[in-house]
Amino acid sequence: MTNVEERLFNPFTPGFFEDPYPHYKMLRDEDPVQEHPLGFWFVSRFEDVSKVLKAGLSVEVGNLAPGPFSQQVEYFGEEGNAGALNLSMLDRDPPDHTRLRSLVTKVFTRRAVAALEPKIVRLVDEALDRMADKGPSDLVEELAFPLPFAVISEMLGMPPTDHTRIRELSGTLVRSLEIVADEETARAIMAADAELTSITREVIEWKRKNPAEDLLTALIEAEHEGQVLDGDELVAQVVLLYVAGHETTVNLIANGVNALLRNPSQWQLLRAQPDLAANAVEEFLRYDSPVQQTRRITTSPYELAGKEIPAGTFVLACLASANRDERFFGPDADALRLDRPEARSQVSFGAGPHHCLGAALARLEGQVAVSRLVQRFPKLGFAGDLEWNGRINLRGPSKFPVTVHG
Ligand code: HEM
Repeated sequence: MTNVEERLFNPFTPGFFEDPYPHYKMLRDEDPVQEHPLGFWFVSRFEDVSKVLKAGLSVEVGNLAPGPFSQQVEYFGEEGNAGALNLSMLDRDPPDHTRLRSLVTKVFTRRAVAALEPKIVRLVDEALDRMADKGPSDLVEELAFPLPFAVISEMLGMPPTDHTRIRELSGTLVRSLEIVADEETARAIMAADAELTSITREVIEWKRKNPAEDLLTALIEAEHEGQVLDGDELVAQVVLLYVAGHETTVNLIANGVNALLRNPSQWQLLRAQPDLAANAVEEFLRYDSPVQQTRRITTSPYELAGKEIPAGTFVLACLASANRDERFFGPDADALRLDRPEARSQVSFGAGPHHCLGAALARLEGQVAVSRLVQRFPKLGFAGDLEWNGRINLRGPSKFPVTVHG
């Protein structure tokens, strides 16, 4: 049994960024619905996480009771924050959530996404050709990042932009999905939000003059139709789709390949049985979740596992911990098993009204990327140590040196 302090959710525990799973296991075993002294609650078992996701709780920060987090939110709102934070569908309750989500759902249906497959195959094969030419290279730079970035840029109809800057900015912005402890990070997030918002406004102006068959044009038309979408909301949805479209799938591909390289029998299994690719991606999502947590806010006292969470509280649902819960996935929950039948029950895309809109797209990108990589480079191996991106929530490698020729 650990002491009270060791029992708290603490992402600064040594070794957490490389491997947070022992820490999550301790939380599941010792304090699965934890009232944290910093003012939030941390939920880590599969059953409780699933309940929280589907309970119809709020996501609007305006519902937070006065305390450290409501102050943080006010802080984000000061200095004329340009508006992408808190206006996207991810941060809105019905009826606004329903209105905003319905504007884009048809672009992300399984059928609409399946039509993108030839393009995704082409992008993956081009990336693999480049890796074959280079020899030692970086998997994140060559494949895991450029693939989802190119796909979402094309779906939206973004003009060719300064990718490096956008990448830096979105990498900072996604830290707003974490419990931000220090002022420096909070200021950096606000600055990134303001700059990304202003770039997006320019892009929207450009698109007004250059309409095309793309998602950006469709959203601009919805704005024109009157009450459907106002100007700041338009910007916020575009930023959300752009950022969510690549900051997450990069981790699915990189974490998935990392898991495979550390489990050679599973690498061989996928080579021998390519039709396992769909289930393999479910298992990657379960085994090392690209998005580790999602959040809800209570608007009235909420009972969970015999505890009462007061109204106006942040509840962090730890998807990554739920996905490793041996109570649900069995005693070998910590093992990678590409043919695990219950892998599809993973909760990496959340659940309920905010269930990830891009799930079908992410699955397809993951399947094509990993299955073609495995077939093309039977001898793929590490060419050095991984570096982790240092994020508590959208956790994945930032450097992934590989050699393709063994
Ligand atoms: C929401 C995960 C890829 C767009 C979410 C949520 C999670 C998530 C956990 C919140 C769900 C909840 O709170 O219940 C992931 C993972 C991805 C991924 C793990 C990749 C492996 C994508 C892609 C897009 C996308 C490719 C598309 C552009 C969205 C949007 C929402 C969302 C728009 C907000 C939905 C809403 O609030 O109604 N995602 N996502 N995601 N995701 Fe993803």
